[in-house]
Amino acid sequence: MASLEAKVAGHYTHGALQAAIEAGWATVRAHSKGAPVDQLAGVDEFHIGGRVATEMVCARIDLGPGLKVLDIGCGLGGAARFMASRFDVEVEGIDLTPEYVEVGNGLSREVGLDSKVHLTQGSALNLQYEDAYFDRATQFHVGMNIEDKARLFAQIARVLKPGALFAVYDVMRVGDGTLDYPVAWAEEETTSFVAAADAYEAALVATGFRVVATEPQGDLALAFFARMKARMAEHGTPPLGLHLVMGKDAATKVANMVQNIARGAIAPVLMLASKA
Ligand SMILES: C[S@@+](CC[C@H](N)C(=O)[O-])C[C@H]1O[C@@H](n2cnc3c(N)ncnc32)[C@H](O)[C@@H]1O
Repeated sequence: MASLEAKVAGHYTHGALQAAIEAGWATVRAHSKGAPVDQLAGVDEFHIGGRVATEMVCARIDLGPGLKVLDIGCGLGGAARFMASRFDVEVEGIDLTPEYVEVGNGLSREVGLDSKVHLTQGSALNLQYEDAYFDRATQFHVGMNIEDKARLFAQIARVLKPGALFAVYDVMRVGDGTLDYPVAWAEEETTSFVAAADAYEAALVATGFRVVATEPQGDLALAFFARMKARMAEHGTPPLGLHLVMGKDAATKVANMVQNIARGAIAPVLMLASKA
């Protein structure tokens, strides 16, 4: 693994995530009759907006039975399992962090989705899939860890079929000013590559995509964090929440992200592209 990638994987490695999730899940199960995939959503959808954002993204890419979807930087595979369970698609996820892939594949087995969702450890900058294999691709909060967006999008373009849709939901620069760190994706600026929507669009166009939509989601983000704060004030820390994946300084990371978004420096952006 290249040294930056090792640093990024180190940032996300928890060390005992399996046990932490199993313990929290047992508590959730005792109080909820919801589908297992939904019970896990608080912890396995590691992007701003959680399940709400996942649904928003999926609603825009015309998913249907049998389609092959590539989820770049899949993490624990929450979005992948949601897509497979809701839309009956087959999902291949790729992620740099070995622990996420191992725990995520275990979760897929536990919820009975392992025949439809496969997570593999590897770099999105070096995809091993054959050319023109996938019908759709998604990327939830990954580009902030990858400096060379054009190299990333060239890899994705290669494995997509002509006309395939690609949804990017990343945190992007929407204004000036320094960013406060740590945030969920980086302890400090040296491993953070937050770029403006213009740079994403240019990299997509240069690698054979047509950009169909660019939609900043700052309001969705602030509403998500406000809901999180209100729930914590009323019920305390949830048994399955993003604090499990963000680690001991989770509260500082959340506070910094809220500050950075509230002053208009960054926001999650939904970008839709189609391969020419
Ligand atoms: C904030 S998490 C989002 C995880 C997942 N997409 C989700 O929304 O739950 C960012 C993920 O990107 C992965 N990642 C970062 N750089 C990567 C790369 N070059 N190739 C593959 N995965 C990468 C990390 O390992 C981490 O799991």
